[in-house]
Amino acid sequence: MTDANAILSSMTLSEKRFKHTLGVAEAARELASVHFPSLDLKSVELAALMHDFTKEYPVERHLELCSLFGIELSEEDIINHKLLHGKTAALIARDSFGLSDEICSAVYWHTTGRPAMSPFETVIYLADYIEEFRDDPSCIRLREYYKKCMEKERDKSVALLKTLVRSFDTTIKHLISEERTICETTISARNYYLKLLSERTKA
Ligand SMILES: [Fe+2]
Ligand SMILES: [Fe+2]
Repeated sequence: MTDANAILSSMTLSEKRFKHTLGVAEAARELASVHFPSLDLKSVELAALMHDFTKEYPVERHLELCSLFGIELSEEDIINHKLLHGKTAALIARDSFGLSDEICSAVYWHTTGRPAMSPFETVIYLADYIEEFRDDPSCIRLREYYKKCMEKERDKSVALLKTLVRSFDTTIKHLISEERTICETTISARNYYLKLLSERTKA
């Protein structure tokens, strides 16, 4: 199996994004240990290292990779190229590093999230948002919110669900404030986790 060093040695990220990537690896390991203790932490780390692997590629390279591998682009991908890096990083995770479907899927969905995320997908999605080096106010607020929920909620899965809902709300509000389109998967994910949270807290 590919090890972390193989990924690290082919990485071409800027210093800031490299630091962010290491932050995601750390946060993802922590989230996994608390919420999904049966997850293999080595695999969690590999998914974290891969998640933004192609983030700094020019748009043309993303499009070239998608066409080479027959990845269909959604309308949203065409409008918002930022969404492509999860897809192209997942392609490289599979084809160049031979990583498992579970890891590739976590890389693929890390930007938008989706309803009913797997444990792998959940920890990478959320770690990307709340890792300690992210310093924009919305990420800081979400990180603090998660910590507060973890202190307050006896059931830690409720703390996790609340933070997931808040993360989607934050993204959606931000996109609205910038008059940008919202990926439908993100809206579905928000509704899915809101419903799950209300069922869980009612029970
Ligand atoms: Fe990303
Ligand atoms: Fe990221």
